Amino acid sequence: MSALIEARAVTRVLVDPEPFTLVDAATLKIEAGALVAIVGPSGCGKSSLLYLLGLLDRPDQGEVLIAGQPTTDLGEAARTRLRLERIGYVFQFHFLLPELTAHANVALPMRRLGRRSPLEIDQAVHTLLEKLGLAQQAGRRPDRLSGGQRQRVAIARALANDPAIVLCDEPTGNLDSVNTRLVIEEFQRLAHAEQRAVVCVTHDESFAEAADRRIRMLDGRIVEDR
Ligand SMILES: Nc1ncnc2c1ncn2[C@@H]1O[C@H](COP(=O)(O)OP(=O)(O)O)[C@@H](O)[C@H]1O
Ligand SMILES: [Mg+2]
Repeated sequence: MSALIEARAVTRVLVDPEPFTLVDAATLKIEAGALVAIVGPSGCGKSSLLYLLGLLDRPDQGEVLIAGQPTTDLGEAARTRLRLERIGYVFQFHFLLPELTAHANVALPMRRLGRRSPLEIDQAVHTLLEKLGLAQQAGRRPDRLSGGQRQRVAIARALANDPAIVLCDEPTGNLDSVNTRLVIEEFQRLAHAEQRAVVCVTHDESFAEAADRRIRMLDGRIVEDR
């Protein structure tokens, strides 16, 4: 089976204010059904690598392949389309739109992809929120949700278009231990029961332990992968 995500010697360099290598020749392959943790000290390039894998940034050298498809030379529109169809991204600080309800936040990627009618979108959002235990919160704006609820809405939004790939940056960073446990179990389910490729940047030891594989970074390089 071919990898859902592949990075071939991916390098990202900042030139301003002085040259700095964010990601240094990172190579990896991630298959469907795997829960992978990216770990390493603060500032070692974890978020930068995740951005490259999620097509939110372009490498200066090397190639990111999504389901076997090279992406470096694709135009912005094609990259956006591929991202909407294949990749769900959970950001470090949820990034829900504050003026929209939980329901409307989750509907947004569906509307952007444009595959479903408004009625179908309503039903799909309802199903997703219910699955994540948020049926009662559908009509609330983010400021009326708890931290755990907001993080689950962000996960629901990442799953809006049923992506084969789920990427998340410190998904349990601001959560208490009970909510951390729930989020870890949700990501395990997404990988193992639903056969997605799930990659999480994490500082959380229990999360790294619960993953099938740990990729350790240091100074922009992958120094361990097992
Ligand atoms: N746009 C940027 N401009 C300058 N420095 C940056 C920029 N983005 C990231 N950095 C720096 O690059 C390093 C790697 O960042 P990051 O990938 O966010 O690390 P991590 O997620 O592992 O904490 C950090 O030292 C960070 O301060
Ligand atoms: Mg980071």
